[in-house]
Amino acid sequence: MALVELQQVSKDYRMGVVTVTALREITLTIESGEFIAIIGASGSGKSTLLHVIGGLTPPSAGSIRIDGHDYGVLSDAARTDLRRRAIGFVFQRFNLLPTLTARDNIELARSLGGGEPALMNGEANAAGDRYAWHLVERLGLKSRLDHRPAELSGGEQQRVAIARALINRPRIVLADEPTGNLDSVNSDAVLRIFCELNRELGQTVLMITHNPEAAARASRVLHIRDGRLQTA
Ligand SMILES: Nc1ncnc2c1ncn2[C@@H]1O[C@H](COP(=O)(O)OP(=O)(O)OP(=O)(O)O)[C@@H](O)[C@H]1O
Ligand SMILES: [Mg+2]
Repeated sequence: MALVELQQVSKDYRMGVVTVTALREITLTIESGEFIAIIGASGSGKSTLLHVIGGLTPPSAGSIRIDGHDYGVLSDAARTDLRRRAIGFVFQRFNLLPTLTARDNIELARSLGGGEPALMNGEANAAGDRYAWHLVERLGLKSRLDHRPAELSGGEQQRVAIARALINRPRIVLADEPTGNLDSVNSDAVLRIFCELNRELGQTVLMITHNPEAAARASRVLHIRDGRLQTA
């Protein structure tokens, strides 16, 4: 079964008498383990595509299945639950909660996904949750866990956001220009992390990017233009 399946998905935004069509009849299948880059001009519908796949906004027409579950037939509560368990989001503007430390930003996502705290007792807890510690270590965040976002660099904040997105072992990570607010050194580091997570853990990634290097590293590139997928 495909991990993500879109059938004829369209999305209109209605604002008073004006209707903007952001997506037009998109049919798309994503298999587990893919690393997909989405490229397209500003306003072409890239973020909207991510939001409908992530269940953040309903399509105006068509159907979306994640792991065989059709968003259209789920209750709001079931859709939220599926989103928290199956999908990790990473945004351009990190979107961390400013009053929480890095550790608590990550733990909050974990508890919303139904998990127990994993990063509270340092190494002593490591055997209990190797994955959580591996992630934090892999992202170079071990010595940063007690810092709040304002005390972290942009690159570090984005790495916390990646840890938060991955803590529940989502089936797919949706990343909306994750390097858009980073300098070239930090952007390279973040790109490398996504590539390695894909290679080492088989993490499925769907990433919007303007960075040709990011697109070059992807296993598949989707071009979107005026709300349509361009066939390559
Ligand atoms: N919440 C909204 N309400 C109304 N119109 C919207 C909304 N979100 C997006 N749009 C419109 O839908 C179209 C697609 O927007 P979208 O944000 O998906 O583009 P994008 O490809 O992500 O662009 P960018 O590269 O600038 O982020 C645009 O015309 C945009 O103005
Ligand atoms: Mg966008």
